[in-house]
Amino acid sequence: MTRVFSGIKPTGSVHLGNLLGALRNWVAMQDEADTVYCVVDLHALTVPHDPEELRAATLSLTQLLVASGLDPERCTLFVQGHVREHAECAWVMECTAAFGELRRMTQFKDKSESNDFVSGGLFTYPALQAADILLYDTDQVPVGEDQRQHIELTRDIAMRFNSRYGETFVVPEAIIPPTGARVMDLQHPENKMSKSDDGAQGTILLLDDPAAIEKKFKRAVTDSGNEVCYDPVDKPGVSNLLSILGAATGRSPEAAADGLERYGDLKAATAEAVVELLRPVQARYHELAADPAETSRLLEIGADKAREVAAATFDRVRSNLGLLGR
Ligand code: AMP
Ligand code: TRP
Repeated sequence: MTRVFSGIKPTGSVHLGNLLGALRNWVAMQDEADTVYCVVDLHALTVPHDPEELRAATLSLTQLLVASGLDPERCTLFVQGHVREHAECAWVMECTAAFGELRRMTQFKDKSESNDFVSGGLFTYPALQAADILLYDTDQVPVGEDQRQHIELTRDIAMRFNSRYGETFVVPEAIIPPTGARVMDLQHPENKMSKSDDGAQGTILLLDDPAAIEKKFKRAVTDSGNEVCYDPVDKPGVSNLLSILGAATGRSPEAAADGLERYGDLKAATAEAVVELLRPVQARYHELAADPAETSRLLEIGADKAREVAAATFDRVRSNLGLLGR
């Protein structure tokens, strides 16, 4: 069975773009593959952070993932820091990656320019990501376009390790959704919706209440003209709303335009569809949030399942590397 692995950082708030562009796909893959999903708390340490906030964010992201449809019975859902092999294997990855390869990672360049304190971990972060993936004999890694370079590096590290020390790792491939799967910012439809955007008005958070959602859609930027039709080049604002409406109601963006005469109707219909889409997710989230002990129990089961796979892979790594056994 195909093994799928992906990770998400417990920083910032989860938004509609994450749900429609990534999480929905993660949920769907549970029925088709052996799926392993990881809340990557160690990755959150690469930039300055507040310990209490990290703890709360890790728990709350886990709850939001379950509320969105990840089922701990059908997938392996765990927190990276609960499985020691990730940090241990990351060292091996750092020693297998070339300095020049790490230096070429564009995400490091972007992030190091916008931070006052640049940690060594921010530089070696892709090696930790490679460890995450390779420890699980992963075939497929569903990620966004921005992660393509990290998956390429992971492949290069796996192939280099295998040729130096013998077959050890499965060489994974990235599964990247088509650009149409991108949700754009409601205020700046030329940019993708993101949690780091300063204009929060353009981002629908999964935990926004119905009034906030309606307000954000009401204020969404539309285009000149007044016809509701799907045309991403000339009508980026309207087309984004149609994509969202279509995705929320299981239709194509073109079909979603049916029967909508005015921009105001489109905004109202999209707001309503998103409120309905998020209603059960929010209800389930609030149930889970009221019982953190249950989440801890789920995470313990997830960590046990993950550890079993990771430990077996890492034993192979140790032995092939020539580390003395005990
Ligand atoms: P990030 O929020 O950048 O950490 O991304 C987490 C996941 O959500 C990645 O797989 C991204 O590709 C996906 N994602 C983030 N923003 C969007 C968006 N606006 N539209 C579609 N997918 C997105
Ligand atoms: N670096 C990824 C991001 O910023 C998160 C991540 C960490 C990840 N480890 C991973 C994604 C392993 C896929 C597989 O979104």
